[in-house]
Amino acid sequence: MTDGEANVLVVGSINMDLMVRVGRMPVPGETIHGEDFRTNPGGKGANQAVAAARLGAKVRMIGSVGRDDFGRALKQSLAGEGVDVEYIRESERSASGTAMILVDQKGENSIVVAGGANFDVTPDDVFSREDLFTECDVVLMQLELPLQTVRAAIEVGRRHHVRTILDPAPVPKQFSDGLCEVDILTPNVVEAERLTGHKAAEERVDKIVASQLIARGAKNVVLKLGSRGSLVICADQHFYRIPPYKVLVRDTTAAGDAFTAALGVAVARGASLHDAARFANAAGALACTKFGAQAAMPAAYEVKMLMDDQPTK
Ligand code: RIB
Repeated sequence: MTDGEANVLVVGSINMDLMVRVGRMPVPGETIHGEDFRTNPGGKGANQAVAAARLGAKVRMIGSVGRDDFGRALKQSLAGEGVDVEYIRESERSASGTAMILVDQKGENSIVVAGGANFDVTPDDVFSREDLFTECDVVLMQLELPLQTVRAAIEVGRRHHVRTILDPAPVPKQFSDGLCEVDILTPNVVEAERLTGHKAAEERVDKIVASQLIARGAKNVVLKLGSRGSLVICADQHFYRIPPYKVLVRDTTAAGDAFTAALGVAVARGASLHDAARFANAAGALACTKFGAQAAMPAAYEVKMLMDDQPTK
């Protein structure tokens, strides 16, 4: 899974992350001290693009940044990672997307995103670059762009028989079933609960949650269960659990992005969903071991080492 050609197209968001480590999350009206402030490239789309590139895929990205210092830095850093940034627009009217991120002692995070230029990516940006869909194996999407743009990407991906993978994050108020109509839907437990009203918490409930998403149109669902690993459920309701890898957790930010990108790269290389989810579990676990989003995305050799060290079925 660490070798072989994989062509990945990301239609997604690009943010500058402003991160602070805190002892605990503040309550409303409270001021607390934080430490270790960092400004890091992030955005779910850009994180997935960098993760896929570090895993050896050829990556192109459709997105938008502002015509400002953050925008220039974000594009430059993506290009430095080998991502093709030719289709990333510089918006005249909006500032680059930013995210305020607090990370607590357990490595759990709280994120607020100001989307800015990400909301300037239109369905036309997708329709006018249909050629990119004909040249990729997998398209990765998240929900930090306008929903009609994501729907356009799903539609074009399906038209060209490209594998469509949607990370339904963040879950919007108006989530329509059309957004479920992808090859693989990859919610985490919080997103799954928002989408179905059920808390994925134990074996029986996890399966019910995933089945509901299949009923809403997803061909396959890979439920990201964090420290419990993941659950794969296919259209025929066949399901299997993938056990977690054990790592020292420092910061869970973007672990889900590493997971989804790795899943996409493995699927693009022809892996079964079972093997792709194992690979994704390992990449997601490694992303928890470092502070930051793109800074924490693992390289292919690191994923291979973890999988060799902790063989699972
Ligand atoms: O998934 C983590 C990402 O969510 C951060 O990088 C932040 O920018 C938000 O998009």
